[in-house]
Amino acid sequence: MAGRGLLLASLLILSCLVEISHGKVLFSSLKRTLIVTASPKPGQVMKAGEDQITVNWALNETFPAGTDTDYKTVKVKLCYAPISQVDRAWRKTEEHLNKDKTCQFKIVARPYSATNQSFDWTVKRDTPLGTYFVRAYVFNSDDVEVAYGQTTDAKKTTNLFDVQPITGRHVSLDIASVCFSAFSVLSLAGFFIAEKRKAKSSK
Ligand SMILES: *[C@@H]1O[C@H](CO)[C@@H](O)[C@H](O)[C@H]1NC(C)=O
Ligand SMILES: *[C@@H]1O[C@H](CO)[C@@H](O)[C@H](O)[C@H]1NC(C)=O
Repeated sequence: MAGRGLLLASLLILSCLVEISHGKVLFSSLKRTLIVTASPKPGQVMKAGEDQITVNWALNETFPAGTDTDYKTVKVKLCYAPISQVDRAWRKTEEHLNKDKTCQFKIVARPYSATNQSFDWTVKRDTPLGTYFVRAYVFNSDDVEVAYGQTTDAKKTTNLFDVQPITGRHVSLDIASVCFSAFSVLSLAGFFIAEKRKAKSSK
């Protein structure tokens, strides 16, 4: 019992520490030192659960040598474009990275390397309908964001692409339910006709 309490308390403290160290990071404090590209063409529609996106990222070599000495990991994410955030507080962009809800879908996490990295990602089936871009965050050895790169411009208006859920499953479900209702109406009608006949013949 005491052991469990201690564990809970340390977990609480740990999560507070994580919160504190992350809560201080503002997006505006990150340097845009990565060049990130993704395969979808501007406006291209990717089907969730089917289509594949190739993401590439590399250090922008115009930054001075040593820029990346503390770079440890890169986390690549799929992010909502402003048009898909309108009136949706649960997708809102916040300066504080721990509150930011722009990038909710993890694509991949990799140890940092300055050389051109590549990853093929099939758009997850449960990705909501929307307009997106790809962003990569660089974390230092303390697991704090220090840099980033993204496939769009600072205002998030260029090179955006769309994700569309597959509707096939829903269509077949709808067809099944229509058939089932038609079947129940028919059997009900059949039941009444049979009852009427029985009543007539017994007269
Ligand atoms: C990385 O490689 C891809 C595919 O060859 C290319 O399209 C992209 O421009 C490269 N990125 C950099 C920063 O060199
Ligand atoms: C690399 O960084 C420089 C300096 O910030 C910037 O002017 C340039 O556009 C960047 N290159 C790419 C391909 O993003």
